Amino acid sequence: MQDQAERLRQMMGNESASVNLDRVASGPSVCRVIAVTSGKGGVGKTNISVNLALAMTNKGKKVLLFDADMGLANVDVMLGMIPQFNLLHVLNGQKSLPEIITEGPGGLKIVASGSGGVQELADLNEAQRGKFLSALQDLQHQAEVILIDTGAGLHRNVLAFVLAAEEVVVVTTPEPTALMDAYGMIKILHREKREPQIRVVVNMAGSPMEADEAGQKLSVLSKRFLDLKVEYLGFILRDPGMIRAVKEQKPVMLSSPMGPSALSLNRLADSLLSGKAKESDGNLLQFFKKVTQIFGGKA
Ligand SMILES: Nc1ncnc2c1ncn2[C@@H]1O[C@H](COP(=O)(O)OP(=O)(O)O)[C@@H](O)[C@H]1O
Ligand SMILES: [Mg+2]
Repeated sequence: MQDQAERLRQMMGNESASVNLDRVASGPSVCRVIAVTSGKGGVGKTNISVNLALAMTNKGKKVLLFDADMGLANVDVMLGMIPQFNLLHVLNGQKSLPEIITEGPGGLKIVASGSGGVQELADLNEAQRGKFLSALQDLQHQAEVILIDTGAGLHRNVLAFVLAAEEVVVVTTPEPTALMDAYGMIKILHREKREPQIRVVVNMAGSPMEADEAGQKLSVLSKRFLDLKVEYLGFILRDPGMIRAVKEQKPVMLSSPMGPSALSLNRLADSLLSGKAKESDGNLLQFFKKVTQIFGGKA
């Protein structure tokens, strides 16, 4: 069987094989950049990103939610919003970055990538990349936490964001297939990322016990086979309220703020906010520099 890291190298091209993030100049820590990802799709990343962003906003944090899932404009759908402009407009030169930020509930800031926006980011030439990165400087002071909702799996368009973010939340369900894919993602992060800070959230669990078992399993496997500390952050139970909220396009934090999912999400937000942040490079500009560098390595 082909080694996963080898496959990743092929996907990302030779130049970026070593994804040398050490070479990236580091700046002062301004805000935390947290990517939400998973091995398997459909495990609840977008729901969790949107609701965690709302929970943190509620707690008085300045949060920017970046939708980096290239296929679907999920975040806006879940919030029942229709942003007029997205990253694509910035990359096409039609809008400036501050102009595409949509204001969500409670002052949450949202950047939609738009269908094709992430691909476009991958295809920027050197000059465009420079322009884009300098535009980002305007945004830097607008957020204390940047949450990035990514796609699933080991595709380059997902990994660029996950490898560039300082902190990663891996979402899984207790199902063996989802757990295996989550572990696959953790293995890649372990190999390709310097001191990865990884936390696991178990979603759609039937009981707290089932969730804890799944979360602990990932922690134990990572410790035993990778000698890597993976923190089990917590869980959200399978909740009809979540399904209803998606249908109504109203996040569960707003539709049932006292319901079980909202309470769990609040706890997760507290744990994340009180958890240890990575101390270096944690700003938006550095983050996108890394993203575009990793993308740029493919040619
Ligand atoms: N805790 C939960 N309980 C029940 N259903 C959930 C829960 N979390 C997510 N879902 C369902 O799973 C679907 C996929 O969630 P989504 O956040 O879009 O996943 P992803 O972004 O990982 O693809 C949602 O439309 C919702 O119906
Ligand atoms: Mg999604």
